[in-house]
Amino acid sequence: MTRATARAHPNIALVKYWGKRDEELMLPAAGSLSLTLDAFATTTTVALEGTDDEAAADSFTLNGAAATPAQATRVTRFLDLVRERAGSTARAVVTSHNEAPTGAGLASSASGFAALAVASAAAYGLDLDRTELSRLARRGSGSATRSLVDGLALWHAGHDDASSFAEPIEGPAISMTIVTVDAAEKAVSSREAMRRTAATSPYYAGWVESTTRSLQEMSSACRAGDFTRIGEITESNALRMHAAIEACEPPVRYLRAGSIAVFDAVEQLRADGVESYATADAGPNVVVISRPEDAPAVAEHLDHLGQVRVVGAGPGARLIPAEDPA
Ligand code: PMV
Repeated sequence: MTRATARAHPNIALVKYWGKRDEELMLPAAGSLSLTLDAFATTTTVALEGTDDEAAADSFTLNGAAATPAQATRVTRFLDLVRERAGSTARAVVTSHNEAPTGAGLASSASGFAALAVASAAAYGLDLDRTELSRLARRGSGSATRSLVDGLALWHAGHDDASSFAEPIEGPAISMTIVTVDAAEKAVSSREAMRRTAATSPYYAGWVESTTRSLQEMSSACRAGDFTRIGEITESNALRMHAAIEACEPPVRYLRAGSIAVFDAVEQLRADGVESYATADAGPNVVVISRPEDAPAVAEHLDHLGQVRVVGAGPGARLIPAEDPA
């Protein structure tokens, strides 16, 4: 195949990935666990140019406009890995459409690189299974490794390229109420902030150690269908990540006043008997988890604090027919 289209969805971590053990191989300092969403899809087509001219460049169009040089470089670096494996020098025309606001902490890099991994592997003729695609996506963006998996995904930290991938894990049905308090591009990228946390945060070692323990507990809670324990671990793990980030030098702070207001409102919801728990990624927006039957009450309660959208578990990245509209 010289042309392929794939669709992927972002994922939101209940136990977060924050910090790399190996930047080149994108091996995380600890494992993580997430839910792949059924919204905010990225649809990406990779078409190979009929040239073997190494001087020719890949082209990358995102949401109808030429990508920034930084975005284009990241895509070309990723495609170089695919080309190396495929023994090809063909350049690619990459067209991507992303339904989520890029850079607003809704993990658009996860859906982006998961879709790119699936589409580029097929376009360059690589026959990879789901585990191999998960490992490949990891090289583009760590969190992308989990977007290959349907629903709940457990990313094993691993110790080398072969052992660091995500796989499905059993768990109860979970709804996520996304509260967008600010859709602006984040000021410090997760890549840079992770580096800074590892290098300067006095809490980094504690974060890695506690996450490793939380992941074990979270995996057991998922398998046992224990929503309460899942929620408790989710909220404490998110707050621990933000505490480690906020202790950087120079400091990085993703949570804004509007984000804290959502955490407060969720505490109130729990006091009122609606079990819900908050988490936030590298941005100001907050994601609130609940049992699906409680999601309408959660959304109604949080509606005045931002733009609210309820989502659920969605499919892992896969190929789609090219004529399927994005
Ligand atoms: O893979 P990146 O660079 O998008 O990092 C994602 C980090 C968090 O979203 C904050 C946490 C996570 O596990 O998704």
